[in-house]
Amino acid sequence: MTTDTKLILVTGGAGYIGSHAVMALQQAGYRVVILDNLVYGHRDLVENVLKTELIEGSTLDRGLLKEVFNRYDVSAVMHFSAYAYVGESVSDPSKYYENNVVGTLSLLDEMVAAGVKNIVFSSTCATYGVPEEMPITETHPQNPINPYGATKLMVERILTDYDKAYDLRSVRFRYFNAAGAHPGGQLGEDHNPETHLIPLVLQTALGKRESISVFGTDYPTSDGTCVRDYIHVCDLADAHILGLEYLLKGGESNVFNLGNGSGFSVRQVIKAAERVTGKSIPVVEVERRPGDPPALVGGSDRARSVLGWNPQYADIDTILAHAWAWHQTRHG
Ligand SMILES: NC(=O)c1ccc[n+]([C@@H]2O[C@H](COP(=O)([O-])OP(=O)(O)OC[C@H]3O[C@@H](n4cnc5c(N)ncnc54)[C@H](O)[C@@H]3O)[C@@H](O)[C@H]2O)c1
Repeated sequence: MTTDTKLILVTGGAGYIGSHAVMALQQAGYRVVILDNLVYGHRDLVENVLKTELIEGSTLDRGLLKEVFNRYDVSAVMHFSAYAYVGESVSDPSKYYENNVVGTLSLLDEMVAAGVKNIVFSSTCATYGVPEEMPITETHPQNPINPYGATKLMVERILTDYDKAYDLRSVRFRYFNAAGAHPGGQLGEDHNPETHLIPLVLQTALGKRESISVFGTDYPTSDGTCVRDYIHVCDLADAHILGLEYLLKGGESNVFNLGNGSGFSVRQVIKAAERVTGKSIPVVEVERRPGDPPALVGGSDRARSVLGWNPQYADIDTILAHAWAWHQTRHG
């Protein structure tokens, strides 16, 4: 761990993954300022758990960004803020292109103006679209099948061009399915509306939902349900510290998948949740959702070899146990 006192600006630091990254930054000895408009973020977690400065505002506010970069000596930005509901991005693409692309562009332009040269960006496996081969590596073609994935791919391309033109160096992390919660129990996933499988399953275990819907049982997978690669949020946070330090040491722009390299089906996740919670979880089988690939599993060898990343919580029962502890405290 470093004892560096560099200041990191974290956009979306009041959200799920951002808040875990803020805690990891603090533990690694960094100072943190959060920029979050609290559309989905949680003020209480920033004030009571992270206890760091929160600037309530949007990346779309150029004046505010100028002020932030004037006021703070920012060494690097971790950029988590975005909208991330795939279905909504299909019905309201304008909202997504504006927030995820225009908002990022204004952030990058103000970074360039202020001479801030390093950014860690949250991209996604949704930029790959329907996989041609598995595990998906960073060289797999990127053909997103929804506007959400397209916004993230656009930002990746913008980052490549800004590096060439303005010397802005970036680490782009393509996450697979973020899951779990801080083992200490103070932070976890609290999206509203919630669309992710694990929190929905746990809400069902808590009796907050009657049943969990399984979308499609006739996929070409071992048990007919979709397979995803679940990666613990603290392992994501650790990768962010490594990516940041790689940039601060002068590393070149790069892109890394962040996944465990092993997939779990929807039925396997539900079974594991029943084991971990000791409750039976009612299931309703429904039609496939359009645009859901049968399986998404990521190869993360590059993050391991270049950054020295070594995920600690690959076991699905551990991921669920941490998430369950959090859900019981937050929603029990
Ligand atoms: N959760 C996943 O499984 C997953 C997978 C791949 C990629 N990602 C990406 O990771 C990032 C974080 O995801 P998350 O699950 O923590 O989401 P989240 O919604 O919990 O966090 C995003 C935060 O950004 C804030 N925000 C949104 N627009 C803003 C703006 N214009 N200005 C300032 N703040 C703004 C929200 O209030 C929220 O606190 C997102 O960019 C998302 O696309 C997430």
